[in-house]
Amino acid sequence: MEKLIETTNLTYFYRSGTKDEVKALDKVNMNVFQGEILAITGQNGSGKSTLARHFNALLAPGHGDILVKGLSTGNKDNIPEIRKVIGMVFQNPDNQLVSSIVEEDIAFGPENLGLPQAEIIERVDWALHTLNLEDLRNEPPHNLSEGQKQQVAIAGVLAMKPECIVLDEPTAHLDPRGRREVLESAIRLNREEGITIVLLTHFMNEVVHCDRMIVMENGSVKMEGSPGVIFRKSEEIKTAGLDFPVASQIAEGLRREGFNIEPGIIKTEELLESLCQLKSSI
Ligand SMILES: Nc1ncnc2c1ncn2[C@@H]1O[C@H](COP(=O)(O)OP(=O)(O)OP(=O)(O)O)[C@@H](O)[C@H]1O
Ligand SMILES: [Mg+2]
Repeated sequence: MEKLIETTNLTYFYRSGTKDEVKALDKVNMNVFQGEILAITGQNGSGKSTLARHFNALLAPGHGDILVKGLSTGNKDNIPEIRKVIGMVFQNPDNQLVSSIVEEDIAFGPENLGLPQAEIIERVDWALHTLNLEDLRNEPPHNLSEGQKQQVAIAGVLAMKPECIVLDEPTAHLDPRGRREVLESAIRLNREEGITIVLLTHFMNEVVHCDRMIVMENGSVKMEGSPGVIFRKSEEIKTAGLDFPVASQIAEGLRREGFNIEPGIIKTEELLESLCQLKSSI
């Protein structure tokens, strides 16, 4: 698979050179591959957001390198091109919504790209349609639920037609329904529009729907692999201070009670299937 983002010994200090210096990233070597959904997880302060802010050159490396489609983010000349490739969505949608009406908000990015009016209209329609927001087109954003606001923020980024969308804990402030809908949107943008997705999250039930996951610890990559493989490494998961997905916790509990549930279950659908098989064998 082609590398969209590649970091080599990426190291970053906040307040570099002062007595309050904080090493937030420590020799990070990781890739984001074109077309995948990558989850980045880890405890508070493990360096997830600092890493993500390097992906679209909001931060430049202290040491080491990061390449986006082969372009070094440390070179200022590359920044406009890099920001076309990588779109960012943050935790709090209120900070990203700038206009008084949803459709104007979504048009904001394309307008800043200096696109012709016809193309702007086309992109806004497409983004509204892709995220099922057509009914909210003329609403003021402050009338929307937090989940809907986050969908509008995603639509605004989508209208810039990035190859990759990086979402930094986009569901942290949402209720369960809002969380589910934002996750579903991210998966749909990947599967139907071919957009590479990087999802920073604390929720293991979101991680299990990703193709690959990275666990950060103290500014370094601690584990990397498919969720199915990583969540079998129980001791390492516990040491990293992570939870297990709800489905694997239930499966484990049932196994302990003597039920014949297969190992390696991480998704609710897999648990349901296993329970159905169990029922039919009783
Ligand atoms: N603006 C800043 N100034 C100084 N230190 C910072 C700043 N932002 C983050 N840090 C520190 O850098 C380290 C990594 O923080 P970062 O925000 O990248 O972690 P995170 O994994 O995103 O955490 P969270 O799960 O809480 O979002 C932490 O020690 C944090 O305290
Ligand atoms: Mg963070």
